[in-house]
Amino acid sequence: MKTRSIVFRQHGPPPAVAHLETRELPSPGPGEVLVEMLFAPIHPADLNTIEGTYARKPNLENGAVPGGEGFGRITELGSAVENFEPGQTVLIPSGVGAWSEACLVPADSLVAAPPGVAPEQAAMLRVNPATAFRMLADFEALQPGDWVLQNAANSAVGRAVIQIARHRGLKTLNVVRRPELADELRAIGADAVLLEGEDLASQIPAACGGAPLRLALNAVGGESALRLAKVLAPGGTLVTYGAMARQPMRIPNGLLIFQDLRWRGFWMTRWYEQARPETVAAMFAELFEMARQGALWTPVEQVFPLEQIEPALIRAAEGRRSGKILLRP
Ligand SMILES: NC(=O)c1ccc[n+]([C@@H]2O[C@H](COP(=O)([O-])OP(=O)(O)OC[C@H]3O[C@@H](n4cnc5c(N)ncnc54)[C@H](OP(=O)(O)O)[C@@H]3O)[C@@H](O)[C@H]2O)c1
Repeated sequence: MKTRSIVFRQHGPPPAVAHLETRELPSPGPGEVLVEMLFAPIHPADLNTIEGTYARKPNLENGAVPGGEGFGRITELGSAVENFEPGQTVLIPSGVGAWSEACLVPADSLVAAPPGVAPEQAAMLRVNPATAFRMLADFEALQPGDWVLQNAANSAVGRAVIQIARHRGLKTLNVVRRPELADELRAIGADAVLLEGEDLASQIPAACGGAPLRLALNAVGGESALRLAKVLAPGGTLVTYGAMARQPMRIPNGLLIFQDLRWRGFWMTRWYEQARPETVAAMFAELFEMARQGALWTPVEQVFPLEQIEPALIRAAEGRRSGKILLRP
């Protein structure tokens, strides 16, 4: 069958190198399913993949289809597919190219999406809320009432951190670079919202009542990461999962010698590659349930058809958005 997909054949600025093309898609092979795509977000990692700056580089010989996650409906099964049926809605993993009208996906990499979750929200669940979920669970043994510190708190990951932390009885200290976001973040459960800047350390004790901070989540890098690290409790952990400022981190020796801080990193892609299926299933059961209840929700600024890929990519790369940019193939 023929399908229309966003394709890039060389690395470069996404709006310049990614275009809509019609491609031939073979029938699903053994263990594969054909999925009609309904929604797919544009994430920073998608832009970095097209630019050629992401950790994994796709093979560009026949062009690559971007799109690290998405939501679609199964339309055809290959042989030896047992756990899925045509008509079922699913989440698409990274690596198959979600920015397409249809794609072929190994059935064992799909996550079945239950009814009751808005398709736009389901399309964004596999990367950002899952990242927030893992970072809150896997680095420090936090107890209800404990505080978590994060920067880029209004990002999709940051908002999921706020919502999942609240669900678990954890409290969040949220650093943003735009003061106008404070009320919005408090409305979804942020306990304190602080403005990025030199005087962060002086604001923290009053904001969290002097409680020790054992976990900080960093999506910015550079000076912002250092400001988080400086207020961590001795032995605390700074988890770096993003680098929005594209600035390296400087680690003062004293923070390691005298504070014994743990400087860790997290990559969702690797987690999925190594996780046990039952652990993945348990995480999605909780994320879907929260999404179904409206307790986990990512704002969407605008939805574009594939034909409008250029303005969609331009907007997705800009700061100060009110939410995610989605494609509706
Ligand atoms: N390691 C992993 O497995 C993993 C998984 C998911 C996401 N991530 C990473 O997490 C980060 C956030 O992703 P997302 O999809 O949640 O983002 P998003 O919703 O697209 O939001 C981007 C965020 O970055 C902020 N920002 C942009 N440029 C900045 C700069 N120069 N300095 C400081 N802040 C800046 C924005 O602030 P304004 O709104 O004020 O512009 C906004 O809060 C990205 O780096 C992404 O690659 C990593």
